[in-house]
Amino acid sequence: MHPLASRGFVTYGPSRKEETLLLPSHIAIIMDGNGRWARERGKPRLSGHRAGAEVAKRISIAARDMGIAYLTLYAFSTENWKRPPAEVQGIFRILEDYLHREMEALAGYGIRMRCIGDRAALPASLVRVVDESEHLTFSGPRLTVNLALNYGGRWDIVQAARSIATDAAEGRLAPSDVDEDLIAARLSTAGQPDPDLLIRTGGENRISNFLLWQLAYSEVYVTPTLWPDFTPNDLSSAVRAYEARDRRYGGLNGQGGLP
Ligand code: FPP
Repeated sequence: MHPLASRGFVTYGPSRKEETLLLPSHIAIIMDGNGRWARERGKPRLSGHRAGAEVAKRISIAARDMGIAYLTLYAFSTENWKRPPAEVQGIFRILEDYLHREMEALAGYGIRMRCIGDRAALPASLVRVVDESEHLTFSGPRLTVNLALNYGGRWDIVQAARSIATDAAEGRLAPSDVDEDLIAARLSTAGQPDPDLLIRTGGENRISNFLLWQLAYSEVYVTPTLWPDFTPNDLSSAVRAYEARDRRYGGLNGQGGLP
């Protein structure tokens, strides 16, 4: 086995002596720029979100075709509640319609859809369709899409801490049992490799409370392209840029930080 395989990497492509191309196993995307895209066209913001939902589908299929195993899409953050209520309700409606319409197709594409985030505050009709999509796509063998919905990185850490504290208070865990692996196992991405690559469209250089724990060593790729304009070719460019990086994990130059 390639030494990187045990760290969640997949090696691919023509094997060349001097270079092994590494495909990211997990890509996380901050899909920003829907509003600006709509404004540039003199359209309402929601038409940008609608276009964004279509792009999310195209990019999921492209990621599947490239052999990516996990894709996490930031669809609604815990901070997005600060938007006008009509926009918030509109985004929920778009997500609900989209999942309702596409869940069978997603299952057909071999895509497993999971929702990560706090469902408690979401409309019941959206939660129902999320549950149904998760159930229908459960055995998707090719790509897992984590749809981050009412998600915040701090929320994720808080809910993990609560579950650990509950186990400790009830005597199932000792403080000395708490380590990085245990915390990772209580996060909403438990069992998945951390993202190798974070893509942010729309040009801002921020993490915006996305997967705070999980992004510790991710490579970051920011593109000015607005999300509704992001194409499978742009995804390939981001992956190529990732492949050219030297990931050191706090180690020394040229060693990739690996033992
Ligand atoms: C950021 O653009 C986008 C959002 C807050 C909502 C994202 C929702 C979608 C793309 C729909 C996703 C659907 C599926 C099925 C995954 P913005 O409004 O912040 O844009 P701006 O920065 O130009 O104003």
